[in-house]
Amino acid sequence: KTGNLLLDPAFVNTASCSSKITYIDGDKGVLRYRGYPIEQLAKHSSYLETAYLVIYGDLPTTEQLEVFEQRIRRTTLIDERMRDLFRCFPRRSHPMPVLAAGIMALSTFSEKSAGTDPEQVENATDRLIAKTPTLAAFSYKNSVGQPTLYPDNSLSYIENFIRMSFGFPTEPYEFNDEVTRALEVLLILHVDHEQNCSTSTVRMVGSSGANLYSSVAAGVNALSGPKHGGANQAVIEMLQGIRDSGMSTQEFVNKVKDQKSNVKLMGFGHRIYKIYDPRAAIIKEHADNILKLHTGRQALLEIAQELEETALNDDYFKERKLYPNVDFYSGLIYEAMGFPVNMFTVLFAIGRLPGWIAHYREQMQTNNKIWRPRQLYTGEQERAYRPIELRP
Ligand code: SDX
Repeated sequence: KTGNLLLDPAFVNTASCSSKITYIDGDKGVLRYRGYPIEQLAKHSSYLETAYLVIYGDLPTTEQLEVFEQRIRRTTLIDERMRDLFRCFPRRSHPMPVLAAGIMALSTFSEKSAGTDPEQVENATDRLIAKTPTLAAFSYKNSVGQPTLYPDNSLSYIENFIRMSFGFPTEPYEFNDEVTRALEVLLILHVDHEQNCSTSTVRMVGSSGANLYSSVAAGVNALSGPKHGGANQAVIEMLQGIRDSGMSTQEFVNKVKDQKSNVKLMGFGHRIYKIYDPRAAIIKEHADNILKLHTGRQALLEIAQELEETALNDDYFKERKLYPNVDFYSGLIYEAMGFPVNMFTVLFAIGRLPGWIAHYREQMQTNNKIWRPRQLYTGEQERAYRPIELRP
């Protein structure tokens, strides 16, 4: 606003960073991880292959992927003493703070990876990718008072997570391949998104020389906010509110447009995308397919589709370039899969984890100067101290 400061290289350098990981063109709706379009990765890749891509810089060979998958598969168990951690939390606890606490606890159980040298970061990378689904499933099972299941390494990474979340030790788990693939695509679509709030938080904390666990735990906390990762939970609550109130989508949109109401159309709008979020378009396709499998969930999908239609044809949203973002349809799929609403942001965190790790590693590998953004001072000019008796 004062002109030259915002253009001052010293200011710009402390408030921004360069990266080779993800490219976004918000006006064209382009999203690429290491140059690969998200549409092709969602169609052909796996979550672990995409994690390898963003972390190591290119798609793995057959042997590299097998070695990586084996490293992860053999690291999925958590220390038995950590099982008591989940019992310390009240059942009604939101799983995001439980996940953040679990990630910090992981750092205390491993001297080998609590440091910041490359070998320790590599070890922490494996442990976080392998154990975060286990932490998430354990916190969910604990919150519903059900027995936790150990990982079964004969299963794929996604199947393992689904079985630990919804399986029971008393019977085999029946998988639905369409549901398994839909969850894998959702996680792939969340893997990275450039300097979003939580990723920048991970880089900020990492720039102080903190270890990978501390930086990722900070990212989990940043993601929990309703304007960021918490939006997928807020979308479902918004749709349920419209359904339960009997309000029409037009009445709801009118409330949003009356800015005094301070009601936002959750799952709409984006700081970078001024067009349809490319991830939302892919998720919407899967939502149609998955919700066909779960009758009774169609009502919320229909409200969402009608809401989208109404907003996209309304000048208020068009003038502000407000379109559906990644969170608008994802919660509908998670809910249909059986995840409770408060687990949606945990699923976002599992998806975003490889991106957080890749950015931390990139930060460490390029002269890791501490992030110290400057500010525009808009406070009082210098003034003299006044004794209390002379103050008005
Ligand atoms: C994610 O950064 C990332 O990449 C994030 C993410 C990722 O992958 O990491 O993509 C994930 O966080 C997606 C966003 C999820 N959040 C939501 O869906 C919450 C609802 N959306 C809004 O809170 C908002 O759109 C933001 C926070 C996402 C973006 O806000 P901006 O860019 O700061 O825009 P703004 O607040 O300046 O709004 C511009 C105008 C304002 O109106 P005016 O004051 O100009 O009249 O648009 C209005 C806002 O009131 N507006 C909305 C709106 N979003 C913005 N009005 C109604 N509903 C909305 N959702």
